[in-house]
Amino acid sequence: MEFEKLIHMRQSTRKYQDTQITEEQLARIIDAANRAPVGSNLYKDVHLTVVQNQDILLKLCEAAWQRFSKRQNVEEIAGDTIDKNEIKTGAQKPNLFYGAPTVIFVSHRKQDLQPGIEWANVTSVVNQMHLAATDLGLGSVYMWGALESMRMIPELDHTDLLQLPEDFEPLIALALGYPEEPLEERTMKHPQFGVNRI
Ligand SMILES: Cc1cc2nc3c(=O)[nH]c(=O)nc-3n(C[C@H](O)[C@H](O)[C@H](O)COP(=O)(O)O)c2cc1C
Repeated sequence: MEFEKLIHMRQSTRKYQDTQITEEQLARIIDAANRAPVGSNLYKDVHLTVVQNQDILLKLCEAAWQRFSKRQNVEEIAGDTIDKNEIKTGAQKPNLFYGAPTVIFVSHRKQDLQPGIEWANVTSVVNQMHLAATDLGLGSVYMWGALESMRMIPELDHTDLLQLPEDFEPLIALALGYPEEPLEERTMKHPQFGVNRI
């Protein structure tokens, strides 16, 4: 896909079909991940885990269910971005991965030599996969909430289910699959970021 079109098509998808993505699509997305820039060329510090098991994904939502059962927590996180009347808390147990048939977790080796570079690295990798998925006509969305909740509620941290190499921790993930509605180009209503020139 032509680059301009690709970035106009890129969007977060939160409704998926049940159909699994193909092995070829998965391979293309992993290949894109491997071509992402990583600080100091430390590719060995990043690890990917492909999860296609819905039971595991639901287990990984448990900490977020507990955290988001408190309205105040949701309001604090969401701020003005959502209609307060739409906040669903309490009994509902939403699938934070939106039922996406594939979720790829991006983990990083724990390190404190270059504080913060792990976040830059995993975001670089996720964004590359997000764009590759878009190019394939697949829907995808960054996944932060579930992993953050497990960091905040260690007794509900089920990241051991990801069977990571020693000293790695999952920081962010990308959910992906066939979107319920085909991706379409979007027009940006206004510039999103403030920009200054010196
Ligand atoms: C670092 C990061 C974390 C995100 N985490 C989540 C998440 O946990 N759940 C979710 O539904 N969307 C998540 N998103 C998607 C954003 O909400 C989305 O990109 C933003 O609202 C803009 O919408 P768009 O991607 O459709 O342009 C995340 C995005 C980024 C960059």
